[in-house]
Amino acid sequence: MGQLDHDHHEHRQGYEQWDDVYRTYAPESLPWELGRPRPQLVDLFESGKVPVEGRALDLCCGLGTNTVYLANLGFETAAIDIAPTSVAYARKKAELAGVDIAFHIGDSTNLPFAEGSFRFVLDMGCFHHVHIDDRWTYLTGVRRVLAPGGMYFLICFGDRNGGAWNHFSEERLTALLEPHLQLLELREFTSEESDRKFRHFRTVLAQKPQG
Ligand SMILES: C[S@@+](CC[C@H](N)C(=O)[O-])C[C@H]1O[C@@H](n2cnc3c(N)ncnc32)[C@H](O)[C@@H]1O
Repeated sequence: MGQLDHDHHEHRQGYEQWDDVYRTYAPESLPWELGRPRPQLVDLFESGKVPVEGRALDLCCGLGTNTVYLANLGFETAAIDIAPTSVAYARKKAELAGVDIAFHIGDSTNLPFAEGSFRFVLDMGCFHHVHIDDRWTYLTGVRRVLAPGGMYFLICFGDRNGGAWNHFSEERLTALLEPHLQLLELREFTSEESDRKFRHFRTVLAQKPQG
């Protein structure tokens, strides 16, 4: 199996075509699959910035590595991904880890969850694949499913990777997210991904206002 060049992955396709990626490439060859939870996610909980309480949602969960981490921390955890093949891998991973996770095959721009369901919502590599025209709907959905005071953690491509429709500057992220959520912290980091390439990311920790 070859390597997926996900920087050049055609974005103007239907989201359901993501399943082709998981059916074509070996799971361990996927650039974003580190085989361990994202260090920036781990740091959120180790630093105490986000409490472990109630329900958590992993948006676009992929192979479920971060999802299993959230469940192991003690969250009652749900996850959604459009690709049935990735969800099948993730279910198996959860089973092997002995954790109970509610997996959904579905579209993160049309979330099948009740208002105020989650204390924590994770987005690692989801928003940067959401079509420009769907961004407002997506963010409206994130806000809706968060409980008042609940936290959203976004990890997405940063503009230091070069100009592209989904490489975000701090100003761009602020403009996109601020109408929906209260921004608490914006950071950036560089990571060697599993294809051995270095990529630049930005993170946003944001909160749904109380009441
Ligand atoms: C870069 S991968 C990140 C996977 C996972 N979050 C991780 O950190 O390993 C992007 C994922 O988003 C999923 N995806 C893309 N568009 C989606 C959509 N509209 N709704 C749900 N999942 C989507 C893909 O199937 C893929 O698993």
